[in-house]
Amino acid sequence: MAGSAGSVCQTRRVFGVLIRIDSVTKRYPDGTIAVDRLSLEIPDRSITVLVGPSGCGKTTTLRMINRMVEPSEGTILLDGKDVQQQPVNALRRSMGYVIQNAGLFQHRTIVDNIATVPRLLGWNKHKARARAAELMKRVGLDASLAERYPYQLSGGQQQRVGVARALAADPPVLLMDEPFSAVDPVVRKGLQDELLRIQDELGKTIVFVTHDIDEAVKLGTMVAVMRTGGRLAQFAPPAELLSNPADAFVEDFLGADRGIRRLSFFPSAGLRLLTSPVVAVDATAEQIAARDTAGAPYLLVTDLDGRPLGWSEPGDLTAGDVRPERLLPHGRPFVAGTDSLRAALDCAVLSPTGWAVAVDAGGRVTGVVSQQAIAEAIRGAHAEGRADAAADAKAVR
Ligand SMILES: Nc1ncnc2c1ncn2[C@@H]1O[C@H](COP(=O)(O)OP(=O)(O)OP(=O)(O)O)[C@@H](O)[C@H]1O
Ligand SMILES: [Mg+2]
Repeated sequence: MAGSAGSVCQTRRVFGVLIRIDSVTKRYPDGTIAVDRLSLEIPDRSITVLVGPSGCGKTTTLRMINRMVEPSEGTILLDGKDVQQQPVNALRRSMGYVIQNAGLFQHRTIVDNIATVPRLLGWNKHKARARAAELMKRVGLDASLAERYPYQLSGGQQQRVGVARALAADPPVLLMDEPFSAVDPVVRKGLQDELLRIQDELGKTIVFVTHDIDEAVKLGTMVAVMRTGGRLAQFAPPAELLSNPADAFVEDFLGADRGIRRLSFFPSAGLRLLTSPVVAVDATAEQIAARDTAGAPYLLVTDLDGRPLGWSEPGDLTAGDVRPERLLPHGRPFVAGTDSLRAALDCAVLSPTGWAVAVDAGGRVTGVVSQQAIAEAIRGAHAEGRADAAADAKAVR
C-alpha cells in the first residue's frame, strides 16, 4: 500500500477515541506556557500528527501522554482512564517511544537493543531475541545486521531499529517525536512508507510529531496544527486541512501550493481516457489514418506488448517504418485508478505534448488524456466537493 509517489493519498477510516486530551495546560517552573488548554481526541488505530513551528509545544504534548512531563492543568485519558491514576511503568510499557536519531544504546548490539523491553519484562533471552529477529524483518532490516552495533548502521537503518525497539513489547500506542527528521529525503520517504505499511498491518495508535507539513499530510489520518504558545490552530484530516484551512496561520503553514497538493486526495479513476490516439508500432497505413481522425494532435506509439514508446504527429508516421528514436518522449506515465489527479496532472505538465499517458499496473497503455481534460476533471471534482467526500472514504494510497 505504500504505492508509488503519485498514488492517491489515503484518507483512512477513523476509529473511536483512544487518547483524550482534555483542556491540558503545561506551565514549566520558569513560567513558560508550553501548552495552553489543549484538547484533542486521538483516534484509535490511526496516525495522529502534531505539527507546528519550533517551540509550539509538540514534544511537551507527546511527553504528557506517557507522563514524562506532568500537566499543570487538565486531564489525559487513555481508553477512558486518567493516565495520572496509572502506574507510570505500566503506562510507558503500553506506549512505544521513538525519537530523532533513534536514541539507541550504543554499547548494545542491534538485536539486544530491540530486545530491551521484552528483557525488562522478564522474557527469557531466547524468546526476546526471536521477537527481535521477527521485528527486524518487519521494519525491513536484514538479519545480517543483528550482531552489529548502532554506529555500524546508517541513519535510516538506526531509525528502523528505533521503531522495532518501540514495537518490541507490542504496545497499543506508539509515540514518535520527529523520528525521521535527521535522515535525507529519499531515506525519509522509505521510512514513511514503511511506517504506513506497519501501521496498516499492526493497527497501532500512533501519535507522530513533526514540523514538516508534507510529512504530516502524508502520514496523518488526523493532523493537529499547533501554533506558538501551545495552542491548537486546527485539528482535521489532511484533505480538509488543505481545502479549508481554519485561518491565515494554518494557510501560511500549509504553503503556497496547497491547491496542487490537495489533488493528491482525488483519484484519477474518473478521468476519461482516450484510446483512439494510441497506435501499435506495427500499425498499418489504414490504422494510422483511422487513428488520425480522433482530433488528438499527437498519436502515442506503443510496442507490441502495449508499452509506450513515444509520441508522434500523425503525419510523421509511416506504416512499416516507425522509428522509436524519432518519437517524442512519453514522459512518466500514471497508473489510472491507483494514482491521484495530482500525478496525472504532473504527467501531462511534464509531457512534451501536454498529454498524459495512463498505464495499468503492468505498464501497458490504457489510454491518454490531455491537460485540458484533466483540468476539467479537477474543476468537476471541486464543484462536487469530492474532497469532502474523500475525507470520509477509505481510498487507496
Ligand atoms: N523543561 C523546560 N523548562 C522550561 N521551558 C521548557 C522546558 N521544555 C520545553 N520548554 C519550552 O516549552 C516550549 C515548548 O517546547 P517543546 O519542546 O514542547 O516544543 P516543540 O514544539 O517540540 O519544539 P521543536 O519543534 O523545536 O522540537 C518552548 O518554548 C520551550 O522552550
Ligand atoms: Mg520537539
